[in-house]
Amino acid sequence: MTRVIIYSGKGGTGKTTISAATAVLLARSGQRTLVLSSDPAHSLADALGVTISRDRPTAVAPGLYGLEVDTIYEWRHNLGGFQQFVASTYSNRGIDRSTATELANQPGLDEILALQRVMIEAQSGRWDAIVLDTAPTGNTLRLLAYPEMIIGGDAGKKFFRVYRGLANFARPFKRDLPEDRFFDEVGGLLERMDQLANFLLSPEITLRLVMNPEKLPLLETRRAYTFLNLYGMLVDAVMVNKILPVRQDLGPYFDYWVSLQRGYLQEIDASFAPTPIFRTLLQEGEPIGLAALEAVGRATFGSADPGALLFDERPIWLEQWNEEGEPGRYELCLKLPFVDEQETVEIARQGPDLTVMLGRAQRTIALPRILYGCAMGHHHYEGGVLRLEFRESTELDAVDTTLTVPDGCRVEAA
Ligand SMILES: Nc1ncnc2c1ncn2[C@@H]1O[C@H](COP(=O)(O)OP(=O)(O)OP(=O)(O)O)[C@@H](O)[C@H]1O
Ligand SMILES: [Mg+2]
Repeated sequence: MTRVIIYSGKGGTGKTTISAATAVLLARSGQRTLVLSSDPAHSLADALGVTISRDRPTAVAPGLYGLEVDTIYEWRHNLGGFQQFVASTYSNRGIDRSTATELANQPGLDEILALQRVMIEAQSGRWDAIVLDTAPTGNTLRLLAYPEMIIGGDAGKKFFRVYRGLANFARPFKRDLPEDRFFDEVGGLLERMDQLANFLLSPEITLRLVMNPEKLPLLETRRAYTFLNLYGMLVDAVMVNKILPVRQDLGPYFDYWVSLQRGYLQEIDASFAPTPIFRTLLQEGEPIGLAALEAVGRATFGSADPGALLFDERPIWLEQWNEEGEPGRYELCLKLPFVDEQETVEIARQGPDLTVMLGRAQRTIALPRILYGCAMGHHHYEGGVLRLEFRESTELDAVDTTLTVPDGCRVEAA
């Protein structure tokens, strides 16, 4: 089984750098490693300081290969007929061909094609490990957490079958219907997407979130973390990059930034524990090239094995209690091990975040969206799990726009 590690996070936080550093370490330890980037604005080759091919893995160092997935190439290779059909449909409506081709490149499909390439490489038996460096604003997270989206569920498949049947029937009478090649390709794609959806659920795939000790990356990472956990995706590490060193010679200008970062580092611990957190200092220069990446990797992982499954628990989940048609009743469950059951629990809800204080332990998590409009009820702590009750308030049904509920949480109209 090939181990697949996916790095995701906000723009510029260091996904490409950490992905490449991880891959360099894995290759060094003797694993056949492929580092692959699905970001159309590729910078993997720049980070590695080499040129790498866009259609097949390129040797970068002993045991290390790189690939920048070229979605236009993957498109042509897999879906030329589909693209042609969409483009010609648009040009029939008077849209010129180049615009039509642009329109035929659906953004979601880019991500799917890149993930498919990961699956094909993982199943090839050629690699011990694959590291995926994703695009900052991609749909990758959503696709990973909710693979049914990839195939559009059963409805999507049914629609395709019906459409194909209708087209076969109507072709003699109507000329601009897609040809067999279109259906073969889309049919083949649907089949591979089905496989992809299953592949994404395999236990060898984990996700690591990359962030910097700053406000906005922290908030975004917290939301991604809750989302991924709720959907059963395994987040096996949180990577905090570009931490300023504590040094006397930096001067008062940096003292401010150092103390600001210190505050965020504490918040990060409170947000993601017990998931392991790895820290990387801001280096003295940009880590470009194999040697610099290896140094960053070693400083980041220390004695931990970067290819290991670093954590395999689900720290947050949601249980639903209501019957069909009743207002929602939920239990938000948080795993908080190593806390004395007699400790008092204090809970503070601030907008979309929830802070739980249990003795000396503190945790802040982003609430799932479905709970934004719910009132918090009782809670209890048992067997290392804190269970918090939430209820959809029935008066909400009568109110049709956004409103503020007593604890200051905004509720959005459906
Ligand atoms: N620990 C570090 N110390 C110094 N420079 C760093 C560090 N980590 C990353 N950088 C530099 O910061 C810049 C952004 O890093 P990188 O490209 O890895 O981020 P990214 O998350 O992949 O960005 P994007 O979202 O654009 O893909 C690069 O120039 C990189 O060399
Ligand atoms: Mg990048």
